[in-house]
Amino acid sequence: MNQPPVSPPTADAPTAPGQPGAPALAARDERWQIRVRGLHKSFGVQHVLRGIDLDIERGRTNIIIGGSGQGKSVLMKHLMGLLRPDAGQIWVDGEDVVPFNDREMGRLRRKFGMVFQYAALFDSMNVVENIAFPLIERYRLSRDEIMERVRDLLRKLDLANVAGIEQKVPPELSGGQRKRVGLARALIDRPEILLYDEPTTGLDPVATKNVDEMIRRTADEFGVTSVVISHDMASTFRIADRISMLFNGTIVVNGTPQEVLGSRHPAMREFLETSGLVAPEENGQA
Ligand SMILES: Nc1ncnc2c1ncn2[C@@H]1O[C@H](COP(=O)(O)OP(=O)(O)OP(=O)(O)O)[C@@H](O)[C@H]1O
Ligand SMILES: [Mg+2]
Repeated sequence: MNQPPVSPPTADAPTAPGQPGAPALAARDERWQIRVRGLHKSFGVQHVLRGIDLDIERGRTNIIIGGSGQGKSVLMKHLMGLLRPDAGQIWVDGEDVVPFNDREMGRLRRKFGMVFQYAALFDSMNVVENIAFPLIERYRLSRDEIMERVRDLLRKLDLANVAGIEQKVPPELSGGQRKRVGLARALIDRPEILLYDEPTTGLDPVATKNVDEMIRRTADEFGVTSVVISHDMASTFRIADRISMLFNGTIVVNGTPQEVLGSRHPAMREFLETSGLVAPEENGQA
């Protein structure tokens, strides 16, 4: 159990899959809060995740990019135990979580808050009921304690100044407001790790920028580890500390924004060029 931790994957060079039960990854690591090695997942004949190696840095904003249908949401659901892998390991704070039983999974999930791809609010519940939902499910807090936490989040997420916000139901909110209510619900139980599944999809550029700022501010203010799925490259480069690219079932690029900008991987080049972040390569080879 005393071997040194494996070094993290660098841009364009993910580490080799760990051996099953590799003790080097089992210790709590101050830098990497989540470590994934050799993760496989199929649905029927469709082999979606084909040996994922990924490290999520504690207290930082980690972004996972990749085209539609590449398996980003599937990967994220594995991190908090909503899906079980066919093979591979996932360590959270040094614990191998794949063999966890239901009770241990419950404890694991309490570390996480998840902001779902389509906000996933309950349309029949008002804003307060939506945000407080995880607390009511889990604990017996007094109504005053719950309202105090809800109002604190409404203030911090700039929702407190929306007239009548507490009694509104989701269909009465704008897209950006709905995203913030979804974030408040993910934050209400004070998670250590926040997972965002495409938080800016369907928003206009201004709302997108506001959500980006909210993600950054949430990271700074609450000190959480953030894992954000995105296919918006401008957003990604605005807020990322680390960027990983999922392509054909594996993580093909992994590094700081600076490292990723210099990546030679063709899928990454295409993402960078079509988003206008880098100029297309010259046709003629030198
Ligand atoms: N529960 C499931 N059962 C069967 N197939 C699934 C299931 N969940 C996902 N898939 C399949 O796995 C593939 C990856 O899905 P996933 O939702 O992870 O894509 P994504 O990268 O998040 O795409 P998008 O950017 O469009 O959200 C898809 O082809 C999808 O049909
Ligand atoms: Mg998705």
